[in-house]
Amino acid sequence: MGTTYKIAVLPGDGTGPEVVAEGLKVLQAAAAKHRFALDLTHYDLGGERYLRTGEILPDAVVDELKGVDSIYLGAIGHPDVAPGILEKGLLLRLRFELDQYINLRPVRLYPGVETPLKDKGPKEIDYTVVRENSGDVYAGGGGIMMKGTPHEVAVQNMLYSRAQVDRCLRWAFEYARQHGRKARGKGPDNTLGLVGKTNVLTYVYDLWSRRFNEIGDEEYPDVKREYYHVDATCMWMVKSPEWFDVLVTGNIFGDIITDLGAITQGGMGVAAGGNINPAGVSMFEPIGGSAPKYTGLGVINPVAAVVAGAMMLDTLGENQAAQDVERAVAEVTGTKMKGMASGQMGYTTSEVGDLVAERV
Ligand code: IPM
Ligand code: MN
Repeated sequence: MGTTYKIAVLPGDGTGPEVVAEGLKVLQAAAAKHRFALDLTHYDLGGERYLRTGEILPDAVVDELKGVDSIYLGAIGHPDVAPGILEKGLLLRLRFELDQYINLRPVRLYPGVETPLKDKGPKEIDYTVVRENSGDVYAGGGGIMMKGTPHEVAVQNMLYSRAQVDRCLRWAFEYARQHGRKARGKGPDNTLGLVGKTNVLTYVYDLWSRRFNEIGDEEYPDVKREYYHVDATCMWMVKSPEWFDVLVTGNIFGDIITDLGAITQGGMGVAAGGNINPAGVSMFEPIGGSAPKYTGLGVINPVAAVVAGAMMLDTLGENQAAQDVERAVAEVTGTKMKGMASGQMGYTTSEVGDLVAERV
């Protein structure tokens, strides 16, 4: 037997537990084949626990999570909990406390998956967004003054330090060098595109674009560079997604454009992401949310959770196992599933898990 990985499993709310169960089924199949083991610890966190006990994320749990090899997350979000409480108290707190400063979000259309983009297929929709995951308007700078008066002022700071920008850019350049088009034999260059708004955000994206060019010139002259304004990026993501290879951007722009990316790759049932601390504990999640209205019906699509599992394997160093899972997913979407939307798959949630696991 090879390595044993300590994995914290946070199934979370709504359909989270259902998709996580299928993800784990596939991960266990990959583990058996590639001779490693998963030591799983489940944590009961999320809206249900908060409503029951008032606890969101006990400090002791955070400490435990700092000691695992990886975290596998289902979904956070509960219809009876006010917006912001679980997001800030659980998801964002974990990202910050574990310093998961990269949010890696591949936009990949699997075979057989329908996209709303006309005349585009798996060949055209195949790029990756590296979203900075620690700064920006997410960092909490700002406040409300004179609240409730007609003179009320609200400030939410777009905050970036040079250190935050540098570490993200270096990671993105490295990623482009290792996983860009050229590295994958799919084009002449590995290209990193910076997505910003240098025409208006003349402080924050001045810092980003200066460091992008300096680090690129000094350390990654082999990686081709491009720059796009974020608004134009949205347009090209729809019109010419084949232009993109690896994109890097700040936290809020990354949040917004990856939802657009997700819908072009078949929707929230397919899109997965990794919150990565390259030197610490990373956390992998389907980005679709808890979908409360589908809870317990066995109709939710587990593919995103399975792909999140593959990303986790890749980050743990089980690259061959990760590739096997992705290949199995592509076979199932390409030859079996009728659709990606909840209830439209032609199979139940657990049958989709079985189909992928068999092919691993
Ligand atoms: C995401 C989500 C989160 C974010 C929310 C739930 C706080 O939209 O992971 O993209 O804004 O980062
Ligand atoms: Mn989002």
